[in-house]
Amino acid sequence: PEGDYEKGKKVFKQRCLQCHVVDSKAMKTGPTLHGVIGRTSGTVPGFDYSPANKSKGVVWNRETLFDYLRDPKKYIPGTKMVFAGLKKVDERADLIKFIEVESAK
Ligand code: HEM
Repeated sequence: PEGDYEKGKKVFKQRCLQCHVVDSKAMKTGPTLHGVIGRTSGTVPGFDYSPANKSKGVVWNRETLFDYLRDPKKYIPGTKMVFAGLKKVDERADLIKFIEVESAK
């Protein structure tokens, strides 16, 4: 599904914002998601990734984020991202729509 930006904005605020920004280069507990679309995993300069995230070698895009965010620990065993995942397809589609728009600004 294409995803709804406004719904995705709410999901981001509720589930991601405590650890990630999407609109600047700022680091929180997690690396910035600014520019994440098209970026290789584990490559934000200066962020101290786990070896698992660093060596995953995947390019983040709609498809890979869709799989990752369903169950991050399954997609990247050993990740230090403490997040259970978003099981609802629509919630992931909405969130990724928001990230696509914001991360490219
Ligand atoms: C890593 C997205 C929630 C902490 C990542 C990465 C993405 C991502 C795409 C990989 C970044 C890269 O390879 O450069 C999201 C989204 C979230 C979310 C969209 C909400 C649905 C959270 C939460 C936390 C968190 C709630 C903190 C409790 C981290 C950390 C990493 C990370 C620490 C680095 C993992 C490692 O080095 O193993 N996140 N995240 N994230 N995230 Fe999240």
